[in-house]
Amino acid sequence: MAKFFVFLGLFLANFWSFSSAFTPLKVGFYQKTCPSAESIVKTTLDQAYTQDSGIAAALIRLHFHDCFVRGCDASVLLDSTPGNKAEKDSMGNKGVQGFDVIDEARDRIEAQCPNTVSCADIIAFAARDSVFKAGGLYYPVPAGRRDGTFSSSDDVAKNLPGAFFNVTQLHENFARKGLSLEEMVTLSGAHSIGDSHCSSFARRLYSFNSTYSQDPSLDPTYAKYLKGLCPRATSTSTNPSPDPVVPFDPTTPVKIDNKYYKNLKNNKGLLVSDQVLWNTPLTRSLVKKNSNHPNYWTTKFAAAMVHMGSIEVLTGNQGEIRRNCRLVN
Ligand code: HEM
Ligand SMILES: *[C@@H]1O[C@H](CO)[C@@H](O)[C@H](O)[C@H]1NC(C)=O
Ligand SMILES: *[C@@H]1O[C@H](CO)[C@@H](O)[C@H](O)[C@H]1NC(C)=O
Repeated sequence: MAKFFVFLGLFLANFWSFSSAFTPLKVGFYQKTCPSAESIVKTTLDQAYTQDSGIAAALIRLHFHDCFVRGCDASVLLDSTPGNKAEKDSMGNKGVQGFDVIDEARDRIEAQCPNTVSCADIIAFAARDSVFKAGGLYYPVPAGRRDGTFSSSDDVAKNLPGAFFNVTQLHENFARKGLSLEEMVTLSGAHSIGDSHCSSFARRLYSFNSTYSQDPSLDPTYAKYLKGLCPRATSTSTNPSPDPVVPFDPTTPVKIDNKYYKNLKNNKGLLVSDQVLWNTPLTRSLVKKNSNHPNYWTTKFAAAMVHMGSIEVLTGNQGEIRRNCRLVN
């Protein structure tokens, strides 16, 4: 019996906080020092969500972009300073949003428990609440991250995957962060909510390569729909083209679900980095499994978010607890 509980405990520990063996992050980290921290984040998100349900996608992406560049240290929140362009002002972070919601949660938490809760943990809590709000699984978030003190736009392109990456490149990019091929496929399912600017995939519609102007892996009806939303860019230096946004999943745009994988099977992936998951033999069976077993994917997604949230974290006396998430202390 005791053995069984040890086993169960190990199983849950592994499931809920994948890398808890390697990082000192803990579920309930603020239980004594700031018991309302997580509920303040939740309330703040709830309020923002009533104004704009797109905030859920924005905060999930914010957590991803934070963790892949210098680890989950809230470096993505720091503003540029004279002589130093920060991550948030790089091309790769174009369209990243959610800063105001984090600021709001930060202010409310500071009022209750000053100098206690890191901005990096606030992002992780907000991403978890966003997943749940969008219809995903509620998962406990191990916390205790500390905030970094440096942010450089130069780090972004070197660390974030590109929208035209193939499976080899995606695999390599995630492996450098300690994430597996399967986790890469699982986490890509975040693209079942939110939007993309036309500029992130327009090449697929108008200038794919020297043989095909339109990506032959795109469903023709879907391509036509996209062309309607994304007219060919005709920018000049004085008159830049508009760059509209389109939903990743037009059928359930604010619901985080395995519809993403079904779309891939129908050649309706929005980015090249989405569609290649189905078109490449190495990942095709994973797409199939996620598309056939929604609960299996939902569970794996929560676990992979926890794992992603542990990338290169600062803990203990490292870094600082930023008073204002946009500025180093
Ligand atoms: C696998 C490699 C990935 C690539 C190449 C990629 C690329 C992109 C691109 C190009 C956009 C649209 C940006 C724009 O034009 O506005 C986007 C949006 C988004 N990405 Fe990813 N992404 C990847 C993985 C992830 C992961 C791991 C997550 C989170 C777990 C994520 C969450 C999101 C979300 C939620 C949006 C929509 C944001 C919004 O509506 O505000 N992505 N991604
Ligand atoms: C991806 O691209 C790289 C570099 O262009 C190439 O070496 C690799 O074979 C490609 N992988 C796949 C699966 O197409
Ligand atoms: C253009 O793309 C197609 C489909 O991905 C590919 O088979 C073909 O080799 C590419 N052609 C060139 C010239 O790159």
